[in-house]
Amino acid sequence: MAKTWSDRFEKSLHPVIAAFNASIGFDIELIEYDLTGSIAHARMLAKAGIISPTEGERLVSGLEQIRREYCQGDFQPGVEAEDIHFAVERRLTELVGDVGKKLHTGRSRNDQVGTDTRLYLRDQIHQIQGQLLDFQRALLTLAEANVETLIPGYTHLQRAQPLSLAHHLLAYREMAQRDWERLADVYRRVDISPLGCGALAGTTFPIDRHYSAELLGFKHIYANSLDGVSDRDWAIEFLCAASLIMVHLSRLAEEVILWASQEFGFVGLKDSCSTGSSIMPQKKNPDVPELVRGKTGRVFGHLQGMLVMMKALPLAYNKDLQEDKEGLFDSVKTLKGCLGAMTILLQEGLEFRPQRLLEAVNEDFSNATDVADYLAAKGVPFREAYNLVGKVVKTCLEQEKLLKDLSLADWQALHPAFSEDIYQAIAPRQVVAARNSYGGTGFDQVRSALALAQNHLQQLSSEL
Ligand code: ARG
Repeated sequence: MAKTWSDRFEKSLHPVIAAFNASIGFDIELIEYDLTGSIAHARMLAKAGIISPTEGERLVSGLEQIRREYCQGDFQPGVEAEDIHFAVERRLTELVGDVGKKLHTGRSRNDQVGTDTRLYLRDQIHQIQGQLLDFQRALLTLAEANVETLIPGYTHLQRAQPLSLAHHLLAYREMAQRDWERLADVYRRVDISPLGCGALAGTTFPIDRHYSAELLGFKHIYANSLDGVSDRDWAIEFLCAASLIMVHLSRLAEEVILWASQEFGFVGLKDSCSTGSSIMPQKKNPDVPELVRGKTGRVFGHLQGMLVMMKALPLAYNKDLQEDKEGLFDSVKTLKGCLGAMTILLQEGLEFRPQRLLEAVNEDFSNATDVADYLAAKGVPFREAYNLVGKVVKTCLEQEKLLKDLSLADWQALHPAFSEDIYQAIAPRQVVAARNSYGGTGFDQVRSALALAQNHLQQLSSEL
């Protein structure tokens, strides 16, 4: 096996060590960005007069040639290349001759790999932000159709107060919007160029870091070369943001799983988004939300892995940093897969069951607060009203009745303030409609929240 580094080494690496050391198996993912970064570096070298313009052109055309070869499936570097950076440099020299050996002037693989990974993540963040908007769009479409669909609301997973289904869905759109913003914020710290930081201390060549950064569309450049080559905060921040997106998706996933169970029966899963069992013919399984719930752990794991890998790492580059990639790539893939699948599930996989939902909101005591509010509005101190309603609920439970089953005489025996309008006040539709405080589930609130969200989404989509 040919050795990749200087003549200081007399013997090649032991093949097992070579395989252990190599990252080409996974950093091939960076090839596009490695070529783009190298093209910018070559252009900068020529502009700064470090290589001649002709040499610069030959390097650029050789790198473009490698891009074409890769797209056609003709460039498949193996473990002997060690990593994507060596693989490209070696192929370049084969293609353009000795001038290829000038590409690495004034840079190191340390600033190179940092540049590539940031270019990769910038692209991925934009794609994920686009997916988050599609996800929001799907939530809004479903919400729009269900402003007046009622669904039990829970605290402690116990029936609490009924809700507009749209209100429930809009809660997830709020989370998705925060996720979008968090990614925009992370992007600002990914968008800094380490190119030209060299191995750790900068370089003796008169390079122009601003120029190469500008060619690569980086907004800023690292001010300190040591920091530039060893900073992975931005990757950790991305994994934090990714983990939170997974938290949100997993919560929705869990609710869909519950709702689709026979016990709840609030939603049916359409054939295109559910699977059967190999032995139980009656089953229809919620695999999509289950997988999303399951994959969440994997993204959390990558965050933890990266934090521990970085902890106590002395400056500047250490080979440990090669371990930043697989978890990052896997998190990106997992996240994109989950967002895509959940969006389709919302778009075409769920069939809410209006009849079952209506029964559900009518069969419980989730209107009990409204009885207390009713009395409080008539001047009874709330705590007193609350205790009284507690007693009524107890009696109803003993008699296997619901609040709506009490006669007007029953109500008036409890408190003289009750009159005929109590029935209207405790009807589930009214219970929901009445919660018209800002941000509440009242239909008017939900309609205006929906309109605001729609405008916001439209604005974000047009900015993309
Ligand atoms: N494959 C290496 C990585 O991913 C590239 C940087 C190698 N630098 C070095 N000094 N060995 O981190």
